Amino acid sequence: MSPSERPPTTTDAGIPVASDEHSLTVGPDGPLLLQDHYLIEQMANFNRERIPERQPHAKGGGAFGTFQVTQDVSALTRAAVFQPGAETETLIRFSTVAGERGSPDTWRDPRGFAVKFYTTDGNLDIVGNNTPVFFIKDPMKFQHFIRSQKRRADNNLRDHDMQWDFWTLSPESAHQVTWLMGDRGIPRTWRHMNGYGSHTYLWINAQGERHWVKYHFKTDQGVETFTQDEGDQMAAMDTDYHQRDLFDHIAGGEFPSWTLHVQVMPFEDAKTYRFNPFDLTKVWPHGDYPLREVGKLTLNRNVTDYHTEMEQAAFEPNNVVPGTGLSPDKMLLARGFSYSDAHRARLGVNYKQIPVNSPKVETHSYSKDGAMRIRNVTDPVYAPNSYGGPQANPALTDDGGKWYADGEMVRSAATPHAQDDDWGQPGTLVRDVLNDAERDRLVTNIVGHLLNGVSEPILLRAFEYWHQVDKSLGDRIEAGVRAKQHEKDPKAAQQANPARSAAQDKA
Ligand code: NDP
Ligand code: HEM
Repeated sequence: MSPSERPPTTTDAGIPVASDEHSLTVGPDGPLLLQDHYLIEQMANFNRERIPERQPHAKGGGAFGTFQVTQDVSALTRAAVFQPGAETETLIRFSTVAGERGSPDTWRDPRGFAVKFYTTDGNLDIVGNNTPVFFIKDPMKFQHFIRSQKRRADNNLRDHDMQWDFWTLSPESAHQVTWLMGDRGIPRTWRHMNGYGSHTYLWINAQGERHWVKYHFKTDQGVETFTQDEGDQMAAMDTDYHQRDLFDHIAGGEFPSWTLHVQVMPFEDAKTYRFNPFDLTKVWPHGDYPLREVGKLTLNRNVTDYHTEMEQAAFEPNNVVPGTGLSPDKMLLARGFSYSDAHRARLGVNYKQIPVNSPKVETHSYSKDGAMRIRNVTDPVYAPNSYGGPQANPALTDDGGKWYADGEMVRSAATPHAQDDDWGQPGTLVRDVLNDAERDRLVTNIVGHLLNGVSEPILLRAFEYWHQVDKSLGDRIEAGVRAKQHEKDPKAAQQANPARSAAQDKA
């Protein structure tokens, strides 16, 4: 571009500026002048460039794309986005959970898989992970869980001792920790991982009939993973490897895609199913509820301004459109509050007016004013009114879907179903899904993790935890840790394992 074709630099008020290089001074060596408003604007804006990072899931990236329905599921949901032939603009953000904004992409961690569908019924957000289950099942424990994964108060270091302390005191974590320590704990790229809604959601059809569903986005690139060594090497070489990989592939016209499937459970099955279907630490085995294809999600457009389109993107599980709804999963219900609260704190009360978060349909809400409100508000500003203001139309909504509940107010675990123990499903994963090589790597990964600063009492609990998942896996982990300790310090490693009881050995 020739100099004459380049646009003139202006202030944020659009006023042409005199120089990109020199501040205004009294004489070439003289003091700065307060009336150099452009210099002041540059300094002041710079000092305010950073906004708080997300508390969990701070490091991430993503892209825009489209979701195209390929199969007819209209008998199950009336949501416009899932009707035959529908094509809907989408936004996706992938992330790690525990790291900060600059942390390496290839650390072992679950990956966030957050999708926003800009549907003709308003925004639908499916804010999932690359794992079908989670570490805990009551929202009371979420904040504690995340703190245990982040940094200590004293030395500001991440600490495997506190991670295993929390996990071994929370046996419901075993399924997700088995997953995390296995191959899928370090995806090769974001393109090579599945996404799962994880929770159970509700679908409602045009006749008002309800089904429970679980969302599965299966990668069309195939699942590929890094070993611990490969992940460590990549973390040292390129902290932003996953972000770069996605950006470069989309820029090069290689558009990654995922096929969306749902598992569908008849509404009444939930009461008597062998697992509590609203327990986020359990899957619904495919044999009980097979996958049904719905459509294809393709990413085809990179963001052009990371800050406005990614850092300020706000996903929230409470964005459920007519034909979809939440479920009695306590985690999901708590998330329904937590995310919009986080956005108000991080981005401000009018965060839905930031273009990336704005629906592609007209809004007619009665929200008014507040910091950074840019959309005009018109009278009347209250309801009910006699001046033609918007009026709620129940026929357009399922009110998020409904189910029934009663009982005393309690603080307790959910009513147990027949096979609701913490160890069964991770045991199945270890014994029936993993092959020998995958099991070997699982053992190596766990042993390596445990040898990294986990203190003796917690080590003993960790051995018990893995014995409960699978006796032989537990034996191998214990032997592996003790052997490595012996190599380092033969005396310290000779102590027996006093915590293991005969009963547990038998199990
Ligand atoms: P299936 O044999 O039908 O499914 C096993 C599933 O495990 C596969 O479909 C695949 O999920 C996933 N898988 C394959 N390799 C690995 C791996 N190395 N690490 C983690 N997951 C892997 O059995 P069930 O449905 O009866 O489930 C058995 C166990 O499989 C469960 O206890 C659970 O741990 C795990 N699983 C089950 C899922 C479900 O929704 N039913 C989903 C994922 C895992 P995918 O096809 O999604 O890639
Ligand atoms: C991010 C809370 C469980 C997936 C976040 C954020 C909060 C939060 C506050 C930061 C939001 C922001 O600032 O933008 C919670 C609470 C949970 C919970 C309270 C449980 C009670 C889960 C579960 C999943 C999940 C079970 C997956 C199934 C995500 C993802 C993000 C996120 C993907 C990042 C979204 C993005 O890319 O912007 N969570 N979370 N969370 N959470 Fe959760």
